[in-house]
Parts: sequence; structure tokens; C-alpha cells
Amino acid sequence: MVWPLWLPILLRSSRTSATDWTRVTQRPRIFLTEDAKRLAKKRLPRMIFDFFEGAAGREVGAGRNEARFDDITLQPRAMADVGKRSLATRFLGVEYGLPLGIAPMGMCNLACPRGDALIARTATDRNVPVCLSSAGSSSLEDMRRWSGDLTWFQLYFGHTARASFGAAERARDAGYDTLILTIDVPEVSRRTRDQQNGFSLPFRLTPRAFLDFALHPRWSISTLVHGVPEPRNFATESKGFDRKASRAGADWAFLQELRERWSGKLIVKGITSPVDAVRVQGLGVDAVYVSNHGGRQLDSAPPAIDLLPIIRSAVGPDYPLLFDSGIRNGEDVVKALALGADFVMLGRPTLYALAAAGGAGLQSLMQCFAEDIDLVMAQIGVSRIEDITDQVLFTPCAQAAHHAATHQAIPASTDT
Ligand SMILES: Cc1cc2nc3c(=O)[nH]c(=O)nc-3n(C[C@H](O)[C@H](O)[C@H](O)COP(=O)(O)O)c2cc1C
Repeated sequence: MVWPLWLPILLRSSRTSATDWTRVTQRPRIFLTEDAKRLAKKRLPRMIFDFFEGAAGREVGAGRNEARFDDITLQPRAMADVGKRSLATRFLGVEYGLPLGIAPMGMCNLACPRGDALIARTATDRNVPVCLSSAGSSSLEDMRRWSGDLTWFQLYFGHTARASFGAAERARDAGYDTLILTIDVPEVSRRTRDQQNGFSLPFRLTPRAFLDFALHPRWSISTLVHGVPEPRNFATESKGFDRKASRAGADWAFLQELRERWSGKLIVKGITSPVDAVRVQGLGVDAVYVSNHGGRQLDSAPPAIDLLPIIRSAVGPDYPLLFDSGIRNGEDVVKALALGADFVMLGRPTLYALAAAGGAGLQSLMQCFAEDIDLVMAQIGVSRIEDITDQVLFTPCAQAAHHAATHQAIPASTDT
């Protein structure tokens, strides 16, 4: 990337800018994902914010992912003796501090300098898993050093199966035990905002981009000081990682061979069809990750949360299911668990919080999620994560049927 000539001058004259970033990170006023998003929008160049927030087509699907959560309501319960509550969650044999991890996302260091390292620190503090993307801006070896066994690695089908197996071997050599294969990107979709903004990696410094960076000097300077982020995990042996490369050649035989070669835990991400879910399950994959990529791939994909109960019923009650797409607060997490997920992953809010206030921003947001989940559990009369079932959902018909079944007849009111 060619940087504006004035940046070194500005850099020398405004040493405080880097310090300012640190100072700002100490008192983040983040109580909701929406707070983080508002701050991120101010701090990031528009091109970067749009890369994070943008989705496929007219972005209707991304909006639907979030909106559908608002239609789901929970049934408050009283006198349930919920004084002692725990958020500890077992998933694939490991106990985590929350039912919530960090989803794989490319180029997190664009949110703020050392973004991946800050995510790793938050994951470690909270004892939650973090998944590094194939398109990550830190090497998988570094990430594994920062967050140890909590680090998972996400793999894309490379330009050949051999290249993908090579990337998986590199992850195994670095000590990874959990691999997520993402299968919902046969081709990278058209992200309209990226096209409008001329976003590409590495950056092309068009006049429009120049102005955008110049209007956000703090981000530009800190990014320059810490090194312009670039993809650090090569999916091929010879070429650098190409996030736009076609993955359309992936097939079931590839997944079967990956299963045979990868002796650790294998999760398949981007499943939206119950038929595909059952096929993945049949190949001995350890968990299915229900996700529509946050609406970034197919604008008309069904809202991800609507798919959860359908896929749960297809794979049976005991098969491990992960979920993301549209999670914005702790109530959403509880709803996803109630609708069949065993574990939930956090996408865009992670990037907004980092951009808003660095590591402190992400810590604040995670605290909001933890408090939300805990307080919601108190409201719905549940003390343990594993007790969150579809019984906590409010569905008028089901409630009436349950009442009728347990009480035979609704007692006559004594009110006059
Ligand atoms: C900026 C960005 C980059 C992403 N990169 C990847 C990726 O490299 N691999 C992947 O499997 N998913 C990727 N995703 C999708 C996320 O893992 C997750 O499925 C999605 O963000 C969930 O939707 P939500 O953010 O609206 O909750 C990316 C998402 C965003 C926003």
C-alpha cells in the first residue's frame, strides 16, 4: 500500500495520537453492541467499517438475521430458586467460561492495531475459544502462542485439496486440536459496499481511499505505526492467500479425506440445510456450525436462527451444534441455546468493540454479554446453561397446551 506522503510528518508531529488510542481504550462506554458499532463507525475509515458491516447484495439477509431475534420471546418464571447460577459450558469435552466464543474473521487487525492479540487476551481472560481465520492477519503460530488451547483454526478449501491439507498440517504442527472447515464460500460473493468503496487487499490508494484515510488520521497513523495488516496464513504453498479465490471445487470426497487426515476435532461451518447437516454428521465430523456467514454470501439465505430448530431436529438431540449470524446481545445467545445450539459464536460485534476501544472495548462487550446471559437466566428461572431448552421460549400455543396437560382444567378465577 502506498501511504500519503504527509503521514510521516503527521506521525512526527502527533506522537500523542498513539497514546490517545491507548487512553481512549481505558474507559469505553460500551453497554450494547450498538454503542460499539456507533463508536467504530466514527473511528474507522468508511472503507474498513463497510468491509466489516457489509454483506451480500442489498444486505436484506444480514438485516433479517438480526431482526428475527426480536420476534422470539422468552417466558419469565418466578420463585425458581436461581440464587446460584453458572455460565460454565461444556462443548466438545472442554469446559468454557461462557457459552460464547469468537467466530473466525479475516483481517481483524484492521479494527485496531494488534486486534488478533487483543482478541486472544480477552479469550484467555474469559476462558472462551477463539477461531483464527485462514484470512487472518496474524500467523496461526502466533495466535496459538497467544491463546493456547483456546485457539481454533478455520480452514477454507484452497485452490486444490492438496493445498488445504497442507494448511491443516501446518495447523496440526502448530499444536491446534480444533479445525473448522468453512464450506459456504464456493465463490466470494459480491459485497456491494466493497465494490463501491474500491476495497481490496492489499489496499489500492485511490483518491477516494486517500481522502477516507486522511479523514481518520488516528486509525491511519496507528495502523502505519504497527504495520499495515495483511493476510498471514497461506492456503497454498506457492502463492499468498487469495481471499477471492474460487473454492467451488470442494466436494464431499474432500471432506471425507480431511476427516481421515485430521485426528483432532473437526467442525463444519456454514451449514444451512438439514440434508447437508445429516451428511456432515454421517462423515464423522464432530460438530455442525449453523451459520449463513452473517448474510455475507447469499442475500436471500433464510435467517440463520430459523434454521437452528430444523437442523437440531434433523441431527437429533445429542449431536453438537454451534451457531452464529445475528447474535448481538446475551438474550440472543440464550435464544440460540433454547432453539438447539450447544455453543454460540460472536462475529461483527467483536470487530466493532475492538475498533471502538481496543482490548478494553472487547472486554467491556464480553462483560455485557456475560451479565446479560446471567441476568436473563435469573429471569427465566434457569441456573445452568445446560438447562436452557425450548421450554424457556414463549410460544402461546405450546404454553396453553402445556398448561392444559399439567392441570387438566384451568382453575376458575376467585377474583370477582
Ligand atoms: C469482516 C468479516 C470477515 C469474516 N471472515 C471470515 C472468514 O475468514 N472465515 C469464516 O469462516 N467466516 C468469516 N466471517 C463470518 C463470521 O465467521 C460469522 O459467520 C459472521 O460474522 C456471523 O454473522 P454476524 O457477524 O452478523 O453475527 C467473516 C465475517 C466478517 C464480518
